Amino acid sequence: MDQYAVVGNPIAHSKSPAIHAEFALQTKQSMQYTTLLGEDEGFEQQVREFFQQGGKGLNVTVPFKERAYAMCDVLSQRAKQAGAVNTLLMAKNGDLFGDNTDGIGMVRDITINHQQSLKDKRILILGAGGAVRGVLEPVLDEQPASVTIANRTLAKAQQLADHFDCLASSFEALEGPFDIIINGTSASLSGQLPPLKDELVGEQTWCYDMMYGKQRTVFLQWAHELGAAGADGLGMLVGQAAEAFYLWRQTRPDTASLVARLREQMA
Ligand code: ATR
Repeated sequence: MDQYAVVGNPIAHSKSPAIHAEFALQTKQSMQYTTLLGEDEGFEQQVREFFQQGGKGLNVTVPFKERAYAMCDVLSQRAKQAGAVNTLLMAKNGDLFGDNTDGIGMVRDITINHQQSLKDKRILILGAGGAVRGVLEPVLDEQPASVTIANRTLAKAQQLADHFDCLASSFEALEGPFDIIINGTSASLSGQLPPLKDELVGEQTWCYDMMYGKQRTVFLQWAHELGAAGADGLGMLVGQAAEAFYLWRQTRPDTASLVARLREQMA
């Protein structure tokens, strides 16, 4: 049976094996998907051994996405732009190929599952770390009217804005309202909220948090209190997995039903 795995550290609580098992069932693929605890010392060796032993594909998660990027022989355009790799496969000639499906997974979740077009919209993205870098190109591909990156450390926002040809701002200098606000800071993880002015949210504003949780994230709570609808990143998690699955198996599973099921299980 074809072998796949997700490598990261920690990895025990990864939802990826359950997600890919469901995709395999749905699309009638014969495959096995497990977890691999990544080692700080020997990550690259672990990856090579996985493929030498006949493994067909690996997902890579925190904290190894940049190291996976560095060891690839060939990179997709979106992986190059992201500077990070979350999906690996071995080409027939033995080249290690790296892709990044995080951004397209998020964009498909927003545009297909949540029916929010990004075209011609004023988009605000909060944060300027790896997570934001990973989604910028797929967001820009949707031809928004503008993309503004706001970050606590303005220089990091400016760097990304220069590279991707969009706008940078501090939180304080932002002028709203925006049509779409995407939270890509890791502030939610610690229950914190960047200093966001209420005027960023208007009547039409729709909000997306790349983080997700059992309870509404602090960012989505802020949006909710201002009357804005939105969604968390559970669909992004399933979406990036679906794109990796597509790369490996050339068939694209349905994600909406699985997101709903995972949501129920989290309750
Ligand atoms: P990731 O890979 O999740 O993007 P990262 O590269 O460490 O992680 O980036 C974390 C992002 O969250 C950064 O934009 C960080 O802002 P700084 O660049 O100023 O550090 C942002 N962040 C984290 N905690 C925050 C907080 N409490 N308020 C605002 N921004 C925060």
